[in-house]
Amino acid sequence: MKPLRTLAAALIVMTSLLPASAQQRQTGSTDSIKKIYGIAVDPATDGGTVLIATQYGLLRARPDGLSELVPALKAAVVSLASDPRNPKHLFASTIDSKGAPGNLMESTDGGVNWAPLKGAKPVIVGALSLSRAREGRMIGLASKIMISDDAGKSWREVAATPDKTFAVAPSPTIADRIYAGTMTGLMVSDDNGETWRDAGAGNQPITMITSLADGSLLAFAYSRGLLRAQESDLKWSLLAGGFEDRFMVDLAQNPQRPDELFATFDTGAILMSRNGGRKWISFEGSDWATPEHIANGKKLFQQNCQACHGVNGIGEAPGNPGAKDKYGFKAPALNNDAHAWHHSDRGIFATISKGSPRNKRMVAFSMRLSDDEIRDIIAYIKTLWSLRSLACQGARHMGCQ
Ligand code: HEC
Repeated sequence: MKPLRTLAAALIVMTSLLPASAQQRQTGSTDSIKKIYGIAVDPATDGGTVLIATQYGLLRARPDGLSELVPALKAAVVSLASDPRNPKHLFASTIDSKGAPGNLMESTDGGVNWAPLKGAKPVIVGALSLSRAREGRMIGLASKIMISDDAGKSWREVAATPDKTFAVAPSPTIADRIYAGTMTGLMVSDDNGETWRDAGAGNQPITMITSLADGSLLAFAYSRGLLRAQESDLKWSLLAGGFEDRFMVDLAQNPQRPDELFATFDTGAILMSRNGGRKWISFEGSDWATPEHIANGKKLFQQNCQACHGVNGIGEAPGNPGAKDKYGFKAPALNNDAHAWHHSDRGIFATISKGSPRNKRMVAFSMRLSDDEIRDIIAYIKTLWSLRSLACQGARHMGCQ
């Protein structure tokens, strides 16, 4: 598990928008997506592609691993929301090239064309969402929780929650109610954020809170998983676990097929569910990556691989990828830092099963591990990768450079 302080820092970067990311964007390229701040279903393809908010602009991501910049929205996008009454009506909060608050952008054609929202001053609001219960209400997160009751034109701050806040959402059914995911659990306010009480989702950090079209609530509890409750009783139950160290940042529901959900994680990965959130697979389609396989793979990794490849696959000599021992290169990082993702699943499988001809310390594991166990380890290793690595894995990596 990540120490809570690291988690808080990671989450704050997700929600507080650093000028540095805008500067980086000018030297970065669209294929090096490390963080995704928001996700929406692309109405043009009915969930075949998703729109993602990144520091490089708004991208349309495809399951085959390619993503393209939406030309009309090149500014760094810090959050993305669609109108539950009309999925083609989208909003995006941006930062300008100097890192200052940018325009709140609006699209009425499903994310193709974008224009600054008329009558709105530049603002930065993360974790943007629109109310199902109250027309014109938008809510988001800056250093404080922000509410707009005129569809984004003007914003006001509400009273602080008792602890650091990472996620906010309006109630789907009660006009004055809002939820806040904080470091110590989910809070609810029935007076537009004046006063807060615990919403009964446990005391783990809540990194994402949203509602679905049927009026149910979904919350992501770090180290537990995705929780669901009805507003009438706020009795939370675990819908899906097995996300290991990853935490969910944003979730979008396909309006055409309500059981289809898409979610972005802190690693930059996109996962999807076709059964309302009970089972998740990676967007690029590996269905071996179930929580059971991943959990087993993590255990096997810790027992067989971690001694050389490091905790969470950071490598034997983190920060010094060229380091050698007397046989050859030291055990490389298997997370995003090195180039494990340049190899296909088949290539990685072969190395684990047969060993490496380049350094005999990487022995053949075929005697010790079954084929399925090796597949489980690969499924776990891939949870450490970003969307970019997943999407650019194997032969595709050449086209991604
Ligand atoms: C005794 C140390 C050691 C152990 C244990 C070990 N490895 Fe390795 N591994 C290495 C070394 C050293 C290399 C570098 C070999 C090379 O240069 O080709 C390597 C290379 C690899 C590679 C190739 C990475 C790349 O980017 O080309 C993979 C994949 C890999 N190991 C996976 C595993 C897995 C999975 C396990 C556990 C089942 C494991 N290793 C256990 C030392 C180890």
